[in-house]
Amino acid sequence: MPATLEQLRRCHFAVDLGAARTRVYVKGTGLVVDQPSVAAMNTRTGALIAVGELAEKMTGRTPDYIRVVRPVSGGTVVDIEMAQRMLRHLLGDKMRRALRRKPFLRGAVCTPHNADPLAQRAAIETLVGLGSRRVELVDTLIAAAVGCGLPVEQPEASMIMVCGAAATEVAVLSLGNIVTAERVRVGGEAVDHAIVQHLRHEHELMLPSQNVRPLQLALSGNGLTSHGPAATEIHGRDVCTGLARSVLVDTAAVRDAIQTPLTAVLDSIGKVLRDCPPDLVADLADRGIMMVGGSALLPGFDDMLRQATSMPVHIAERPDVCAVQGLGTMLEGRVEPLELDPVT
Ligand SMILES: Nc1ncnc2c1ncn2[C@@H]1O[C@H](COP(=O)(O)OP(=O)(O)OP(=O)(O)O)[C@@H](O)[C@H]1O
Ligand SMILES: [Mg+2]
Repeated sequence: MPATLEQLRRCHFAVDLGAARTRVYVKGTGLVVDQPSVAAMNTRTGALIAVGELAEKMTGRTPDYIRVVRPVSGGTVVDIEMAQRMLRHLLGDKMRRALRRKPFLRGAVCTPHNADPLAQRAAIETLVGLGSRRVELVDTLIAAAVGCGLPVEQPEASMIMVCGAAATEVAVLSLGNIVTAERVRVGGEAVDHAIVQHLRHEHELMLPSQNVRPLQLALSGNGLTSHGPAATEIHGRDVCTGLARSVLVDTAAVRDAIQTPLTAVLDSIGKVLRDCPPDLVADLADRGIMMVGGSALLPGFDDMLRQATSMPVHIAERPDVCAVQGLGTMLEGRVEPLELDPVT
């Protein structure tokens, strides 16, 4: 059962547990946590050594006895206990005590569209471990649409595309509900993977996954568009010798390499539009697509969508935190519920 606005208004905090980042909004305070969903633990003692940014930096650089784990995978909590420990550390003592003081702590969490019951259960269990006596579930698509200011409650169509790390969800919303939606398991991680594979095959260069962002940045500005630089110098490690080496990478080839994962995203937009009633599609031709989620910042992604769909494409102001900000807006009671009383 999706939570009602009234139930959400009674919640004290909201959590967006993403494959890449964890965000927490506390009612009356705002966004208090926006950190990578990563924890590092000492396998000898079982103690947690680091969480968030610091733990992410440790990835691939740890001695044997330290293990870096990601308790959320593909938008689902896969290690509930570790997710609880990570969240406790990310919230810190002060915040945790403030929340614990509430006599009947209520939390909200967003889950991917059509999340299966096990995934929903895992999200609920995680918040229960933080002391929540009641947990409300909200569809990420609705939360993100509210967070980027789309007129969700109006009888007109809005199209939203949530570009996460592990998945991309596309939906048409009207009257506060999802009319049609599609979810593809392709996101920022698949794009990063495609770039790493391209460099390995074409240039015999190994690029640590953490260096993919600098590559994207090097290509940025109008980077992954055809107006960007023709070539860019990239540093990495030679696959055979293991020595540091730099190569001149052809930008157009990188653009082609990431086209493959992004084609799946374009297909899902086509499918959503085909399943959508014609009146709503007419609205969408004017209003276009709103992109949210961290991967919406991928340079040139919006241009690619514009070319492929011939529709206006907008990127939200802070695309990465839209979902949790939307939950926050609902917690603070700033969303006017639509009264659909029977006409007498
Ligand atoms: N400036 C940027 N340019 C390109 N990609 C980016 C940028 N910033 C973040 N990303 C990508 O966005 C993804 C993270 O997005 P987001 O924070 O929405 O994910 P998430 O909510 O944790 O994941 P999910 O919703 O899939 O569980 C990462 O894959 C990251 O590579
Ligand atoms: Mg997300």
